[in-house]
Amino acid sequence: MSFPLASAFIMLLGLLSACSTRPNPSPAVITNPVQLTFSGHIEPLIAKVCLECHGGKHMESGLDLSSLASILAGGESGPALVRGKPEASLLYEMIHDEKMPPEGTPLTGPERALIADWIRAGARP
Ligand code: HEC
Repeated sequence: MSFPLASAFIMLLGLLSACSTRPNPSPAVITNPVQLTFSGHIEPLIAKVCLECHGGKHMESGLDLSSLASILAGGESGPALVRGKPEASLLYEMIHDEKMPPEGTPLTGPERALIADWIRAGARP
């Protein structure tokens, strides 16, 4: 292998490893909503403020928010989530109108925006 080719190859290897070792961005620095996932970004928020009343033990209005499947299945009022449409999703509507959580610490503005972005981008698992 000639020298310029070899060094180009080494540079390429360096570039590839730099990409693969880059740490996952934290929710705060995410700019592309397509990267948002239920397990990575949304579940922790829901666990913090909703599961007390919509988890395994209590299921107010028959709504279990502990998994994406049960959110899609919804509660007494039907599906709580419409992929791609936060404004048509009961889950988001309740948060946006500050009806949920009815007591305790509410979600912050940026947290609410994150949930809207996640739904709009297709509510990926
Ligand atoms: C302190 C208990 C409590 C917490 C915490 C809570 N909820 Fe609720 N939720 C209720 C009760 C009670 C109802 C039924 C009465 C009502 O609609 O106000 C309800 C109803 C709902 C409904 C309507 C379900 C249906 O099918 O009719 C949605 C959606 C909902 N909650 C979402 C959430 C979300 C999202 C969170 C977290 C941000 C949350 N709730 C946190 C008590 C709670």
